[in-house]
This record gives sequence, structure tokens and C-alpha cells, in this order.
Amino acid sequence: MSDATSDPTAQRLPILLLNGPNLNTLGTREPEIYGSDTLADVVELAERTAAELGFGLRAAQTNHEGQMIDWIHESVGKVSGIVINPAGWTHTSVALADALVVPGVPILEVHISNVHRREAFRHHSYVSPIAEGVIAGCGIRGYEFAIRRLAELVG
Ligand code: DQA
Repeated sequence: MSDATSDPTAQRLPILLLNGPNLNTLGTREPEIYGSDTLADVVELAERTAAELGFGLRAAQTNHEGQMIDWIHESVGKVSGIVINPAGWTHTSVALADALVVPGVPILEVHISNVHRREAFRHHSYVSPIAEGVIAGCGIRGYEFAIRRLAELVG
């Protein structure tokens, strides 16, 4: 049975998973900080978690801030919520934080490392004030936790 009346997931919009700059190098970049899992592992974990909860997942990564902002604008009306690791833009980008408000859906901010245990410049986030929740220091499982929380919020 695949019609909308019998399938509880049919009317749910997918979750958007966004990863910012340098996260394409996960697995080889500073593995003592970020671990050995790759971005493909992150996406696989996120897809599995979303599917378990009855959501589809769209995943994208870019090293270009304008591209990221365009994707966020294009997601208006098309996603249930956004899980984002803004990476270095966390600490620098007013423009990214402004864009994340546009879709009007819950935002979950994820950091693989515990940014609060690292350099002082990583302690401030432009994204946190507009996020429903922030997960840091849980490794790539943080993405799973964020998706679970997002599903609770929009469920
Ligand atoms: C990061 C932490 C940021 O400070 C850093 O610039 C990253 C990754 C994390 O996932 O721990 O690129 O967001």
C-alpha cells in the first residue's frame, strides 16, 4: 500500500542534512580531532536514522558559502527541518545564520568535536542563537542525535 492515507510517512517532508567547508575531508583531516569516519559514513548514518524514523533525507556538502546559502533558500517549503554542521562558518558567518532563518523550520546544529574544549575562537557560534538545539563533541553520532531530536520536534 503506497497511498497517502495508509502511509504515515507519505506527507512528511524530508530532512535536509548540510555540511560546511572542509567536511568533505572527514576521515583524513585531523583524525585525532574528527575521527576516522568519512562524510559518506555520516550520510549513511543519517539516512539510516532518518529512514528508521520515517523520514527521507537530502544531504549536501559544500566549501562555498554562497552555494550553501542558495541551497538553504531553495529548501523553503520542501524540508521538515535542517541538520547542519556549519564547520568554520559557525564562527564567522552572519550571512549563513540569516539564511537559516528563511525556511522557518527547526535547525539542529552539530559539531563533531567539542568546540568548547578547543580554541577560544570556536566558542562563539552565529548559528546557535537560531538553532533549536546544539550537539557538540559526540563524534559523528551527533548527527544521529540531531535527526532523532528533529523528528521529535516535527513528528
Ligand atoms: C566543526 C568545528 C569547527 O570549529 C571547525 O571549523 C570544523 C568542524 C566540528 O564538527 O567539530 O570545521 O564544526
